[in-house]
Amino acid sequence: MTNGIIIREHGDPEVMKWGPIELPEVGSKDVLIKQSVVGLNFIDIYHRSGSYPLKLPSGIGMEAVGKVVAKGDLVKDIKIGDRVGYVMGSPGSYVEQRVFPAEGLIKLPENISDEIAAAMLLKGLTVSYLINRTYKVKSGETVLFHAIAGGVGLIACQWLKQIGVTVIGTVSNGSKASLAKDYGCDHVINYNEEDFTQRVIEITDGKGVPVVYDGVGKDTFEGSLKCLSNFGTLASFGAASGSPEPCPISFLAPKSLYLTRPGLGPHTADQKLTEDLASPLFKAIEKGLSIPINQTYELKDVVKAHEELAARKTVGCSILKV
Ligand SMILES: NC(=O)c1ccc[n+]([C@@H]2O[C@H](COP(=O)([O-])OP(=O)(O)OC[C@H]3O[C@@H](n4cnc5c(N)ncnc54)[C@H](OP(=O)(O)O)[C@@H]3O)[C@@H](O)[C@H]2O)c1
Repeated sequence: MTNGIIIREHGDPEVMKWGPIELPEVGSKDVLIKQSVVGLNFIDIYHRSGSYPLKLPSGIGMEAVGKVVAKGDLVKDIKIGDRVGYVMGSPGSYVEQRVFPAEGLIKLPENISDEIAAAMLLKGLTVSYLINRTYKVKSGETVLFHAIAGGVGLIACQWLKQIGVTVIGTVSNGSKASLAKDYGCDHVINYNEEDFTQRVIEITDGKGVPVVYDGVGKDTFEGSLKCLSNFGTLASFGAASGSPEPCPISFLAPKSLYLTRPGLGPHTADQKLTEDLASPLFKAIEKGLSIPINQTYELKDVVKAHEELAARKTVGCSILKV
């Protein structure tokens, strides 16, 4: 047995209940992880609320870090005692111990603590595919990244600056704006006070940007399309404000735009794809990308953590200590 969070219905944070959970057998290709830190991600809110429905009852949580304490016979390249992290798979990382397929594990470099890894693996791998695969950003370009003071946002901001990109970021208040500036954001727009589309067009002398990374969704989708230059790409990678309304494909024609709705699942579908995302992330950290852990909660206090993330009260990354 272990302890952790189960949901029996979708709804408000209170549906997450702490209690004993049966641990499955460690299969021949699995490991048993004694978890130390769990990452908090916006997808956990979609799962808990039911905007991404789960088969109930269900565990919740998509990322954690810990030490391998047992392994199956066919697991060769992971040893007992290794420090590992994982992202995605089936929801269920809000637990003290977890059985997980060895194939999905990421071995952690020594310079990356359990806290840093749990704060940034899912978010950092997301930034890695967004800026290297979804739209390969080049030095000298100007891009728009929404919710720049959030977990994904502050990692993206620093990484884009390393590449030599001019970053336009949006935020909802003044303290998030100063934080984003501290992390290198060149132009911060408070989208509660200003029309972000108009500001992006002004900043780019009427040209627009080649790519918008939009994790906000419903509230920004239409404006994001208007910020693009000819042949621009809208990467609509999240829905913090709700899912965007359906968009007629003819909207894309006047500027020959590209619209994509990417997800981390396909980008981490096998070990090679995952390693190819993780290795530039670890390099960016070596080069000085710092992981902002701004909120730390006990795993048992995850109700409070969800309330704060959903209410836009957090900045940077949040972790749950086991
Ligand atoms: N597709 C993928 O592979 C993938 C992977 C990871 C994350 N994501 C997405 O990336 C986005 C950021 O994730 P994160 O975990 O780093 O979260 P986060 O950015 O730390 O938090 C979400 C932010 O979205 C903004 N927001 C705008 N409208 C909102 C609303 N109505 N309710 C709540 N927040 C709102 C808030 O910033 P302001 O207050 O500044 O507006 C809030 O802080 C999410 O949409 C998430 O689903 C996608």
